[in-house]
Amino acid sequence: MEIIPGLRYRESDNKILANGEELSASIRRFSELKMVLKKPNELKSDGIAYYMFRDLPPLRESWARFDITVIPPWKVGGEFAKTKGHYHNSPENMPSYPEIYQVHEGKAFYLLQKPSAKEHEILDFIVVEAEPGDVVVVPPGYGHVTVNPSETTLIMSNIVFREVRSFYGPFERLRGAAYYYTDEGFVPNRRYSHIPRIRFEKPIDRSEPLVLDFLNNEDNYSWLVKTNEACEKGFLGVYCGT
Ligand SMILES: [Fe+2]
Repeated sequence: MEIIPGLRYRESDNKILANGEELSASIRRFSELKMVLKKPNELKSDGIAYYMFRDLPPLRESWARFDITVIPPWKVGGEFAKTKGHYHNSPENMPSYPEIYQVHEGKAFYLLQKPSAKEHEILDFIVVEAEPGDVVVVPPGYGHVTVNPSETTLIMSNIVFREVRSFYGPFERLRGAAYYYTDEGFVPNRRYSHIPRIRFEKPIDRSEPLVLDFLNNEDNYSWLVKTNEACEKGFLGVYCGT
């Protein structure tokens, strides 16, 4: 499928074609995902969980990084396909860097969680359901997991400040996010000491590819670096503070 003119995802061999250049994915295997699954023992064999294409054109020379992730449908022990989940690092004295996602094909649930100073104590848990064209912001201070809750492949992209680092440790230690999405719906992860009720929020509608808007209006995205600006914008009702 065409993501933007000059950038295609080819499903037959899971490659990205960027102006004639053929790009291969980094692969996330089930063996790397096992520790964040609700029922890791239901995993009977290793295989490919999802594909990540990092640092794609047209943002290779930019201060921001553009990535594409492809999550085929699968289930382990009744739990739907998902990413491993991570937190970002923080600028000094600020909540962690935000990120922005767009769905290109399929359907996604973005699971966003804000911990207190203790990683097992969650203060806010947001689920945003998104379909092609929809845009979702991960607010400052939130860890995030993407679920493919469908029977079809999910193709999504993200834009994030190039210096952002990902931390998987809390998700590994607590075996996933504070909720799992399963055949029975959202199920709390009892390894967390405090889990709030889920706050269901709406995505931002945007039919234009996000990365093209970024190229045309780069100044509108300075909040990806200046975390305080993202706090002031109050994405998903999150104004930071306490
Ligand atoms: Fe991220």
